Amino acid sequence: MPSATYSTVISSFVKIIGLWAAYRLYQRWRHVFALSFLPGPPTASYVWGDMFDLKKAPVGTRYNFWRKAYGPVYRLREPLMEPVLVMGDPKGALHVLNKTSVYWRPEIDRVILGLWFGPSVLSTEADAHAQRRRKLNPAFTPQSIKQVSPVLQDLAHTLVDEWNDKLGTDDSLVLNVSEALHRFALNAISRTMFAYDLSDPTGSIPTLLKNISDGPDGPDTTLTRVAAVVIGTFPKLMGLPNPMKTWATMLQTELGKIAGEVWGSVERIGTLEGMDARALEVLSQANKSGDTVSKDDAVAEIIGLLFAGSETVANVMGELLYELAQQPVIQTRMRDELRAFEALNGGPPGYVDLSASNKNGLEYFNAVIMETLRCKAVLMDIAREAIVDDAIPLSNPLPGTNEHVLHVRKGQIVSIPVRDGLNVDTSIWGDDAEAFRPERWLDGNAVVPGVGPGGVLTFGDGAKSCIGRHFAMTELKIVASTLLRSFSFHPSETEPDIDFYHLGGNTVKPKIRGSEGEGVQLPLRVRRA
Ligand code: HEM
Repeated sequence: MPSATYSTVISSFVKIIGLWAAYRLYQRWRHVFALSFLPGPPTASYVWGDMFDLKKAPVGTRYNFWRKAYGPVYRLREPLMEPVLVMGDPKGALHVLNKTSVYWRPEIDRVILGLWFGPSVLSTEADAHAQRRRKLNPAFTPQSIKQVSPVLQDLAHTLVDEWNDKLGTDDSLVLNVSEALHRFALNAISRTMFAYDLSDPTGSIPTLLKNISDGPDGPDTTLTRVAAVVIGTFPKLMGLPNPMKTWATMLQTELGKIAGEVWGSVERIGTLEGMDARALEVLSQANKSGDTVSKDDAVAEIIGLLFAGSETVANVMGELLYELAQQPVIQTRMRDELRAFEALNGGPPGYVDLSASNKNGLEYFNAVIMETLRCKAVLMDIAREAIVDDAIPLSNPLPGTNEHVLHVRKGQIVSIPVRDGLNVDTSIWGDDAEAFRPERWLDGNAVVPGVGPGGVLTFGDGAKSCIGRHFAMTELKIVASTLLRSFSFHPSETEPDIDFYHLGGNTVKPKIRGSEGEGVQLPLRVRRA
């Protein structure tokens, strides 16, 4: 090739690369500044954004302040100036949660969960998600939960016996209640959903699951931040050897063995005599009626259920006991109501009494549970990613305009603030929105003012809302009613302050201030009631 032609080719090539690079830069610029017209806090760091600070902040110290300062819709930044749309407008939030053809769980969440456990209801979208959800749904109907409720009662009584043994001849004792509640919640799922007893605290499954939920709570250094940013950008790197991946593989192997045994029995005899394996039963039924469900599919769903349904419930239960320890008047009123019920009905409330919506003498008890779900939501926020451009309708106009629609582009991350957001929004719940006041559920009770099922977004909304909602409510009510009849709960005078954080994983957990690295701890003084 003559040298003139050669240099023309090179120069054209360089121009094309230059144009392509300029176009990509322009796209990036448009993406980064797309939400610049929205208000938001000054970015904590141009490199790291706001999210590292947010993860370490105790609850009640960020979203609620930002809502007051910037209104319900504002902007935050992830590392490298990646914009995050905080959608605290009720109509906008419901739109995002319900329009599943446009808003998916963020890619990073889906890829990581899929890599760790295999494809499950938590990591799939669109038709694949709908199919998985349809197969699992029968395990979570009120009828199904009624069927397994004796197991939950049994576990709650075991907890009472265990604490009575620990108390011995003492009148009271400081106990890390969180540890026992986590064991309860894990065993509740494993015994009812796949007929397996996980109560042995030295067993490998609880430890593996705890490692995964807590995440390696390592130091917050530049190196760990760079690693987090690289993985956020290339989530598939999580497939490379790392502690989480190793724990997840071990968990899959351990659960695979158990699922194999139980799956085989369910296949052979249709059900397990004297045991409940609701999740495996419904998956096996789906398999027989033409939907293909392999043992690996079943294992992925089981891990998903254990993962999504154990620490969530345990942490909410812990928060309820902590709140009652701070508010003895509420605690006493609940206990009095439970005892009055028992005296009138000749026995403690069972599943039917606890799930009844009519007036049956447990109104205050139910109001405390609702207030717990409102104020103590275990997720700070629910995140979604727009997979195509969209226009989000709003109940309130954007600041300084009459505009009731917000346009977002493909790739936009949307965060719906729950715990310190819509669940405690003063424009919905009134000036005392942040106060724990069960009476608000008794006042007339005709119209629930909030957003989402039952007025709260604690369990999400739409096609991906919590499948275990009734199961969780039942557990919460059974544990609270059983424990409160036997014990009273008080702050532990000798222990330092407790903070509720969402460090390590996405859920709010109790940790001791200054000792966050030591994991979940909730020391309370437990006294015989
Ligand atoms: C108080 C306890 C619980 C809370 C606060 C809670 C909260 C939530 C929330 C907010 C979501 C929706 C997340 C999203 O939209 O991206 C969700 C989904 C889910 N939850 Fe729960 N959950 C609890 C207990 C449970 C239990 C007990 C189980 C199972 C036994 C469970 C299983 C699931 C599953 C499988 C999903 C994914 C559903 C789907 O994608 O279709 N959860 N949960």
